[in-house]
Amino acid sequence: TLAPGIHRGLAGVVVDATGISTVIQESNSLTYRGYPVQDLAARRSFEEVAYLLWHGELPDPAQLADFRSRERALRPLDRTTAEVLARLPETCHPMDVLRTAVSFFGAEDPTEEDGSPAAHRTKSLNLLAKLPTVVAADQRRRRGLPPVPPDPALGYAENFFHMCFGAVPDPEVVRCFEISLVLYAEHGFNASTFTARVVTSTLSDLYSAVTAAIGALKGPLHGGANEAVMHMLTEIGDPARAPEWLAAALAEKRKIMGFGHRVYKDGDSRVPIMQHALDSLVARGAHPETARLAALHAALREAMLDHKGIHPNLDYPAGLAYHLMGFDTPVFTPLFVMSRITGWTAHITEQLAHNALIRPLASYTGPGQRAVPAVTG
Ligand code: CMC
Repeated sequence: TLAPGIHRGLAGVVVDATGISTVIQESNSLTYRGYPVQDLAARRSFEEVAYLLWHGELPDPAQLADFRSRERALRPLDRTTAEVLARLPETCHPMDVLRTAVSFFGAEDPTEEDGSPAAHRTKSLNLLAKLPTVVAADQRRRRGLPPVPPDPALGYAENFFHMCFGAVPDPEVVRCFEISLVLYAEHGFNASTFTARVVTSTLSDLYSAVTAAIGALKGPLHGGANEAVMHMLTEIGDPARAPEWLAAALAEKRKIMGFGHRVYKDGDSRVPIMQHALDSLVARGAHPETARLAALHAALREAMLDHKGIHPNLDYPAGLAYHLMGFDTPVFTPLFVMSRITGWTAHITEQLAHNALIRPLASYTGPGQRAVPAVTG
């Protein structure tokens, strides 16, 4: 038992104010700068949402055109970065590649220490533009394929498919991917965003904060869950096995990936939108494998609700959706990074604008003060 006043995991603790996003508990909805995320996902592109998170307002057509052209121009990687990333072992996780890439971008940037809002906007846009190029090249390298250069004629989501697969799928598939990017973009003081804010609060640089945030997101209790969902579905295999598999896993006190949430206890507000996008992908796939996976996905969701009353979080539909879009399982969490880079960098800027060093206290439970024994012998 913990001493009174201790909030392990900072559960329920409000540590600062933010104007970026909020979860409205009464309506179980999430807003970015006041706009409901489901409306943004339905009506706006990911680029517009990135602009909104950074600037506080949606762009007008001229602002959007300017933002898009600057993003497209920044996509290519320089030769040194490409060489550094190509030297990483193919056995390392794609999140390690991203973490290394961001660290390297910082090492290369002569303005690394410039913490002004203007410098932050430039760096944030540069990361938004370049991270997909890193992720796509890495996925292709692991498949034994050469990189496909970015295409400045294509939008953010379309270009990513082009760089991964050398082709852009139907607009419906691109739209599902874009919806996932909008939903993943921002979520208050989640673990990785808070990590970025902790690093920023020491007046360290943006690349260090983002590198640390990538490390926090990698864990399976956070962003790593979307990858873990796919491993779990593969482990279960047969939809008919889902209830029995779940009962055994719960008996072993395993955490079921893609379920539960620190903030939402009656269901994640983002899930219905992503589930709808997933359903549309499933409806397109005539493949028996798609039908089996969709049935298994639904069976596990029902069994989890029956056994524990715990609802899925965004990673549950997103994990299967990314598989059906053709992405390799280890790149699922890097796809999350490509989106959350917007929220992280918005929070880094907000933290710096009203900075206070984040330095909590701990209740000590170690030995009482004692004398250091004399050295004998
Ligand atoms: N599987 C099994 N039991 C669970 C799960 C789960 N996924 N989630 C919660 N529980 C149980 C938990 O064991 C506890 O039971 P008991 O009271 O008997 O000990 C009870 O539900 C309450 O949970 P909690 O520990 O208070 O929840 P938390 O707020 O500390 O944890 C969580 C939230 C996300 C870490 C947890 O739900 C979890 O481990 N989920 C699986 C990993 C996952 O999907 N993570 C993604 C999170 S959301 C999106 C993102 O960040 O990417």
